[in-house]
Amino acid sequence: MKDPTLDFLYLIAIVLFVVGLKGLSHPESARRGNLLAAAGMILGIIITLFYPFGNTPNNYAWIASGAVVGGVIGYLAAIKVKMTKMPEMVSIFNGFGGACTMLIAITEFKTLPPGTEFMSGQVLTIIFSLFIGSVAFSGSFVAYGKLDGFLRDSIKLPVPQLFNGILLLGIIVLSGYIMSMDELNYTYVLILLLLSILYGITFVLPIGGGDMPVVISLLNSFTGLGAAGAGLIYGNQVMIVGGILVGASGTFLTVLMCEAMNRSLINVIIGGLGATTLSSDSDREKVYREATHGDTAILLKYSQKVMIVPGYGLAVAQAQHACQDLESMLEKEGVQVFYGIHPVAGRMPGHMNVLLAEADVPYEKLLEMDDSNSELPTTDVVLVIGANDVVNPAAKEDEGSPIYGMPIIDVEMAKNVIIMKRSMRTGYAGIDNPLFYGEKSKMLFGDAKDSLNKLKAEITNA
Ligand code: TAP
Repeated sequence: MKDPTLDFLYLIAIVLFVVGLKGLSHPESARRGNLLAAAGMILGIIITLFYPFGNTPNNYAWIASGAVVGGVIGYLAAIKVKMTKMPEMVSIFNGFGGACTMLIAITEFKTLPPGTEFMSGQVLTIIFSLFIGSVAFSGSFVAYGKLDGFLRDSIKLPVPQLFNGILLLGIIVLSGYIMSMDELNYTYVLILLLLSILYGITFVLPIGGGDMPVVISLLNSFTGLGAAGAGLIYGNQVMIVGGILVGASGTFLTVLMCEAMNRSLINVIIGGLGATTLSSDSDREKVYREATHGDTAILLKYSQKVMIVPGYGLAVAQAQHACQDLESMLEKEGVQVFYGIHPVAGRMPGHMNVLLAEADVPYEKLLEMDDSNSELPTTDVVLVIGANDVVNPAAKEDEGSPIYGMPIIDVEMAKNVIIMKRSMRTGYAGIDNPLFYGEKSKMLFGDAKDSLNKLKAEITNA
């Protein structure tokens, strides 16, 4: 018999998930939100140990071994991972989440009692979890390979959309066939498993490396749905609610990322950005000017208002603390300093906010894109630190550009633009940036951290 106290404790775990998720919506409450959700998860796991699952005895030795091995690996990975490698880690964790759902579904097929009605909601749920879990598993590992660079965008299927369409149809037909059986033939389940794993691979393979963060968020929502399906199989409320929360938040995140890049999800899935190396056909003359650290320091010191626009390069250089030091120095000189934050700057949502929070930059100094653009006409100097695509005017000027339509921080509205990066190389979208050749622009070459430290030294001496 199930103790009602267990259900009550599950309810508390669910409330902790919801309150934790709400906390994640603001940087100031994010840490607390994370801890609350983690507490909910620990509570959920503990209650599950006391939960009776039909006639199956809970196998505590297996559960404890899994928890210890998984916990140690997860802890070490989380401690060691660099912020810039976070999307890769999320995709691996997501892949394991998908694998769990997939394994639960396979096991459930094995343990179906004789005489089970196959044309039933129960079997449909198991098939759904098997499919979604397998796609999330294999798709996430392909996404990891693309992000890490060992799977190149050049590895392509000849006609991916047609191939995937036929494969999906085959999976639907096979699922229908399994449900129409009187007695289970496990071979068909294994074929369904292999086809679903293959679909995960061929679904992600044609998508450009540049779109992987969006794909990972989409696969994350799939994993949530798969977990909710597994929760339905077990009749376990905390799994259902947890899965739905992951599924819904992953979907929202996917939509928000697409909106921030002004692209539709279909456009992302069909491929494009990052799949090719294109260069923008701008009419601007391709001559750029270089700044020195000395000139830039003087320009900054004698400005009234400075905006820092950070991008992925700031994270690569781990220059957030140097950046905050520069900001404090300038403020001591009476300069007003803000940060212009583009929603997809970096490689994951909120990347710049997290990075700058790490360096104790007050949240009020971070302006969202629209507010940044309103401040720019009265800004003396914009310091673009390791950002490229998010300040690329081709997004508004060049209809042929793959990022055309993506809203940008329009740094050219300021009086002076200093671009800090190591070379003239392209950013994530693989396209040239006409900003670099603009009449207000100057390039300050070097690693962002080194350059910021040199600027600090020059300001002290100026
Ligand atoms: P990017 O366009 O990727 O540009 C980053 C620039 O940083 C590079 O051009 C690179 O130039 C420079 N850089 C790299 N290491 C550096 C270092 N150590 N010091 C100084 N500079 C360095 O970055 P962004 O402007 O932040 O744009 C983000 C891109 O990611 C967008 O295309 C966006 O659509 C895409 N994306 C983001 C997300 C999320 S949610 N953030 C999701 C999907 C896609 P050098 O090599 O010359 O130094």
